[in-house]
Amino acid sequence: MQLPLSAAVAARLEILDECGSTNTELVARASDEDGENWPDFSVLVTGSQTDGRGRLGRVWVAPPGQTLAMSVLLRPRLPAGEPVEIDRYGWFPLIAGIAMTAAVAPLVPLHSVRLKWPNDVQIDGLKVSGLLAELLPGGHAVVLGAGLNLTIAEADLPTPTATSIALNDPILLGAELADRALAGYLTELGRLYSEFLRFGADPESSGVAGRLRDLCSTIGSQVRVQLPGGGELVGTAIGIDDSGRLAVRKSSDGRVVAVAAGDVTHLRYE
Ligand code: BTN
Repeated sequence: MQLPLSAAVAARLEILDECGSTNTELVARASDEDGENWPDFSVLVTGSQTDGRGRLGRVWVAPPGQTLAMSVLLRPRLPAGEPVEIDRYGWFPLIAGIAMTAAVAPLVPLHSVRLKWPNDVQIDGLKVSGLLAELLPGGHAVVLGAGLNLTIAEADLPTPTATSIALNDPILLGAELADRALAGYLTELGRLYSEFLRFGADPESSGVAGRLRDLCSTIGSQVRVQLPGGGELVGTAIGIDDSGRLAVRKSSDGRVVAVAAGDVTHLRYE
């Protein structure tokens, strides 16, 4: 696979013919004794991921040659070199989701591309990309993994709620599609990431929170959230807090609850 546009945007770009999980591989490479050879904004990518991992311990299924699996290493530092407070790390996967949403939208201009909190990119309500962020041991770096369905045919989609770019009247196909998608994602991710750090990891003043409000279909929706530990809550998603958590006003008693992780269903009626 050749990715010339993407190579120009990454600090280091490694393309693997095949890989178990790009997240697992990049976490391992960036944490071993040669870890300093993997600078901030290094990227590992493959078109054939055999053991992809999803959120909440699930698997991520990707038919070989029809998807992109990409992982980006962030070693975030504020302008004076200080580390980013850990409670702001929740914004990195959201930044990745904003960047992927912005990268996919121009590839399928006839369709609506939105981000379902926390990190599903959807075309007309169907999932085209999922994101998984993982902290490196030590906690001062994060790997942002993204799977993007490029050319999966309808019959081969992993779930009825999935889609691929090819199924949505794309402006490009083939090798050019993969490169444009990845380069678009990295360009937008780099821009948002720099702004976020430049403004001291402040989501509002950096403009990141505003971009999220523009692109996120969850904010303002009636939702059911299935919580990782079991249990669920139903209410209205009213915003995202400073740590990147979803604020939900519960239908039952009007209390506002901040949710850090969970599966969100958008409810049309309740
Ligand atoms: C999800 O929607 O549950 C998240 C899916 C994340 C998949 C990507 S593909 C690249 C990276 N490597 C992995 O093993 N997972 C992420």
